[in-house]
Amino acid sequence: MTPSLRSVACGPVELRLMTPRVAQELFVLARDPDVSRYLSWPPHETVEDSLRFIHDARSLWERHLAWLPGIFATDSGRLLGCIGISGIDRANARAELGTWLGTPHQGQGCNVPAKSALLAAAFGELDLRRIELLVRVDNDRSLRAVRALPGVRDEGVQAERIVQQGIAYDAAAFALLRSEYDAAAWPTATVNVGSPQL
Ligand SMILES: CC(C)(COP(=O)(O)OP(=O)(O)OC[C@H]1O[C@@H](n2cnc3c(N)ncnc32)[C@H](O)[C@@H]1OP(=O)(O)O)[C@@H](O)C(=O)NCCC(=O)NCCS
Repeated sequence: MTPSLRSVACGPVELRLMTPRVAQELFVLARDPDVSRYLSWPPHETVEDSLRFIHDARSLWERHLAWLPGIFATDSGRLLGCIGISGIDRANARAELGTWLGTPHQGQGCNVPAKSALLAAAFGELDLRRIELLVRVDNDRSLRAVRALPGVRDEGVQAERIVQQGIAYDAAAFALLRSEYDAAAWPTATVNVGSPQL
């Protein structure tokens, strides 16, 4: 993997690693329990939690284990949410994709452009072949959103695949393959390489 990925732009969104400067913006979005209800982390309680999240994301990228950029609005530069690929498995060229948007930014047409931008980087710069998505079977909104993605494979339900706050949940498993990826079916994304801004 190359560490030279700087940002990816797609329509209304740009993906880039967050800096400590956006910790307050992240906190405002991530303290909302509706956002993280189906996710692996609890709502942020203080801005320190958000700062830690930002530092962890940068550290994971430096170690080539994950790329967890913020989703920023192209026009205003505001932080809208986060996306990322984690659990990067170089040996098998695979990783897991996750997305969350702050409540005011859901239903605004940002989800597909953010995923398009992420996939352009994952199948390009990051040289991955298989991107997996796991969705709790009770997360109806996310299931609808994932099933509508071009070329997504439905790989069935995995029992007790996700454990959150000590409770095991079944997960619907999906995958996108580079060999089946049709960039023309997605909104156009532009990958910018170079060192991430500090
Ligand atoms: C999942 C998420 C990224 C999708 O982004 P989004 O901008 O909300 O996506 P959309 O508005 O296109 O909604 C997706 C679909 O769900 C539908 N939907 C909206 N609210 C819904 C609800 N409460 N229940 C079921 N479906 C719902 C939408 O109508 C849309 O379907 P359609 O395209 O057939 O009309 C976003 O909702 C989110 O961040 N959720 C919280 C975090 C999360 O659960 N992340 C995913 C973890 S796997």
